Amino acid sequence: MKTWKLLPLALALATAAPAQAEELAERVAGSQAAIQKFASTLQGHLQAAMQEGGPTAAIKVCQQRAPEIASDISSETGWSVGRTSLKLRNPDNAPDEWERAVLEDFDAQRAAGVPASELSRHEVVQEGDEEVFRFMRAIPTAGLCLTCHGSELGGDIQHALERLYPDDQATGYSEGDVRGAFTIIQRM
Ligand code: HEC
Repeated sequence: MKTWKLLPLALALATAAPAQAEELAERVAGSQAAIQKFASTLQGHLQAAMQEGGPTAAIKVCQQRAPEIASDISSETGWSVGRTSLKLRNPDNAPDEWERAVLEDFDAQRAAGVPASELSRHEVVQEGDEEVFRFMRAIPTAGLCLTCHGSELGGDIQHALERLYPDDQATGYSEGDVRGAFTIIQRM
């Protein structure tokens, strides 16, 4: 074949690759923005509730507001937005196979010294007969979180958590640990 016949193909490939990279970069940036909103909205409600009614009142905020905020942001963006973890409090937040593998990798990287705040992953994966964009960002355990996710919980908090979450596994964390991750799925 003469080289000139390959030229249009080469040109098409050369322009397709940057366009794809740009689209991916946009999806990553959009995911980061949605997560930022999720995190700051929840943190705002959590801190206000802690100040007003103490940690037992704040448990209700996490229980009710966290899923509401996730579903509000999901409707706004048209994406599936949520939180997940390897050690769950609410079984509704269970990771799927891809999420589990990423969470395990986050823990391994954290153990190797990478700060939890720097861990994220994006990938285009095949789901059935469609491709989807997936994004996860690790959630670091801060001092504030230990009241409800640490090793020594106050008696009232422990009782309230046991009542609401009889299979709670989300305790025993230390500051800096990967508590879990925000997770986003975008249809393409
Ligand atoms: C006042 C108690 C309280 C505090 C403080 C708290 N959480 Fe939670 N957390 C909860 C409750 C309750 C749930 C279950 C929410 C639900 O039912 O969806 C939860 C769930 C989660 C989940 C979802 C995964 C799972 O286990 O179900 C993540 C991730 C999480 N918390 C991270 C954090 C981080 C990070 C902080 C600190 C910034 C924090 N939490 C502070 C009570 C708390």
